[in-house]
Amino acid sequence: MPPSPSSGGTTPEQLAGRYERITLQLEDLFEGYAESGFDAISRMATIAALLHHKMPHYFWTGFYRLEAGELIVGPYQGPLACAVLPGPDGVCWTGVRERRSIIVPDVHAFAGHVACDERSRSEIVVPVREPAGNVVGVLDVDSDQPDAFSEVDRVGLEKIVQLIFG
Ligand code: SME
Repeated sequence: MPPSPSSGGTTPEQLAGRYERITLQLEDLFEGYAESGFDAISRMATIAALLHHKMPHYFWTGFYRLEAGELIVGPYQGPLACAVLPGPDGVCWTGVRERRSIIVPDVHAFAGHVACDERSRSEIVVPVREPAGNVVGVLDVDSDQPDAFSEVDRVGLEKIVQLIFG
């Protein structure tokens, strides 16, 4: 497959390889975390930092945590974000409600999209589940390019969020 300009000029194979290497690096890092008693928020912070700085097609990378019926911003990298997503609108809430990953190629075409930064053009949201399977938040990634996210991103990110409580 040819490189895709919107996913940072990488081919799908290169992108999948990049997710695999990041996953291995996170697994190594989190072994040390277990010994030190670091928690899920420490893991979220490290995931956001590593992904954001390794993925050229990411513009905003972070977590929203479900707290008392609202989505509250968690660890993130990128421009200043909305602190609270009260729902029911938005891509993040759709991911929570439907308990599945959501890829939005054009945020302007998604009814109810919440624009925290006007530069965001496309988005992917992946639910975060605790060990019993309940959704406790989402990983949200925005790009300033349209149609930046594919199934490769979905598969890569779904594996990565499993490391939060892993
Ligand atoms: N666009 C999201 C809101 C969060 S920001 O993208 C950081 C949504 O529609 O839920």
